[in-house]
Formats: sequence, C-alpha cells, structure tokens
Amino acid sequence: MNVVITGGNRGIGLALAKQYKDSGAKVYVTCRNSSDELNTLGVNIITGVDVSQPETLGDRLASLLDVEIDLLINNAGVLGRESIDDWDPHTIDYQFRVNAMGPLLVSQVLLPSMSKSSKIALISSRMGSMEDNGSGGYYGYRMSKAALNAAGVSMANDLRPKGIAVGVFHPGFVQTEMVNGAGDIDTDTCAERLVARIDELNLENAGRFIHSNGDELPW
Ligand SMILES: NC(=O)c1ccc[n+]([C@@H]2O[C@H](COP(=O)([O-])OP(=O)(O)OC[C@H]3O[C@@H](n4cnc5c(N)ncnc54)[C@H](OP(=O)(O)O)[C@@H]3O)[C@@H](O)[C@H]2O)c1
Repeated sequence: MNVVITGGNRGIGLALAKQYKDSGAKVYVTCRNSSDELNTLGVNIITGVDVSQPETLGDRLASLLDVEIDLLINNAGVLGRESIDDWDPHTIDYQFRVNAMGPLLVSQVLLPSMSKSSKIALISSRMGSMEDNGSGGYYGYRMSKAALNAAGVSMANDLRPKGIAVGVFHPGFVQTEMVNGAGDIDTDTCAERLVARIDELNLENAGRFIHSNGDELPW
C-alpha cells in the first residue's frame, strides 16, 4: 500500500507516518522542512511542500505522479487564535489557504495517481462544526475547517463515481505543538484510531464527519 501524508515532520502526521510504515506500507511524507524524528523513520520524504503555495505544488509533488497512491492523508494544518475584537484578515486568509484550499489543491494535483479503491482522508477539526460550536472565537480556524468540511463533502460526491472514497476526520484533542502540548490523547493513540477509521472508510460511508473515536460528528 502506498500512503502519502502532508505535514508529516511532526505531530499527528509524523505519528501516522510511523504507524503506516510499521504496518508495512510504503510511506511518502511531504513537508516544508524535515525533522530529525522524520529522518529516522525510513520513509520517503519530499521537502519544500508548502500547501499554501498553489503555484509551487505541481512541481513539488511531481515525483508522486509516478506512484500509485492508495491513500492520501491531507493532514497539514495551522491554528490561529482570533477573538471577536482581535483578529487580522491576513491570518484568517492564511488559515483558509493552508486548511481549506491546501487539501483541495494537493488532492487535485495527485488525483491522476489515484484510481478505483484509492482513499482521501481530510484531517479536519470539530472546531469547524456549527452545531458543536459552544464557545465562539477562533475565527480563522473555525471558518477554514468549516470550508474544508464543505470541500470534503463535494469531493466525496465528485470522486465516488471514480471509486475514490473521501472521508472527513476529527483527530481528537491531541498533545501536539498546535495545542501547546495540551490534549487528552497522545499522537500514537490518535494515529492508531485514525488508521482504524480510515480502514473503515468506503464508498458507502464517504462524505461523513467522523471523530477518531468512531463517533459521527454534526456539521
Ligand atoms: N492537535 C489537536 O488537538 C488537533 C485537533 C483537531 C484537529 N487537528 C488537526 O490535525 C492536523 C495536524 O495537526 P497537529 O496537531 O499535528 O499540529 P502540529 O504539530 O502543529 O503540526 C502541523 C503540521 O502541519 C504542517 N503545516 C503547517 N502549515 C503548513 C504549510 N503551509 N504547508 C505545509 N505544511 C504545513 C506543519 O509543518 P511545519 O513544521 O513546517 O510548520 C506540521 O507538520 C491539522 O490539520 C490540525 O488542524 C489537530
């Protein structure tokens, strides 16, 4: 099995790379810059991939067009912390570029390498849910993850006829740099759960919003 993971130099992406590698998959990790931890995994590393830069993605990902991709995990993401009276259009725009447009662009560039029975996993966040938003704030993150969720449903509908299943996943509250090490599960537990959820993804259940613990989340 050939697996491509974006943003795999640290955090959840790194743990997913390790897990898939340990299970015998051939793993391709894209990142802006590699890390010591990633370098020791023995996976294929493609550096210089900034998912917020549409004009460079085609070139940077070109080597993956020779790979038959069974699974693409769009994991790279960024979190800003805007409040109602303290926000910046540029940081909100940047979160849209990374969190919403990035996964769509990467998927579009790599689509020629995917075929019937390939899968695309979008690592979103329940913070993009309207119904689940009980605390406000985080404008750029919530808006960009909601946009990613919308893209995920469209992608699931558009790619189902090609036999490609697209799923939208919330990883849980995970101890990574993004949340300053807070969180109630570690990255290995998260990766183990996400791998199980992605295994369950198929054309019938595509286009749903699933917590790594298996719960279906409201949009
Ligand atoms: N941790 C949580 O509790 C939590 C909860 C819900 C959802 N998520 C989602 O899970 C995913 C992984 O997050 P994490 O917790 O592992 O966070 P993390 O430790 O901060 O890792 C984020 C990853 O995304 C990469 N990235 C950021 N901007 C990028 C860009 N412009 N181009 C390419 N790569 C970029 C980072 O690379 P650099 O090292 O180059 O910055 C890093 O590899 C994200 O989509 C996040 O929104 C996390």
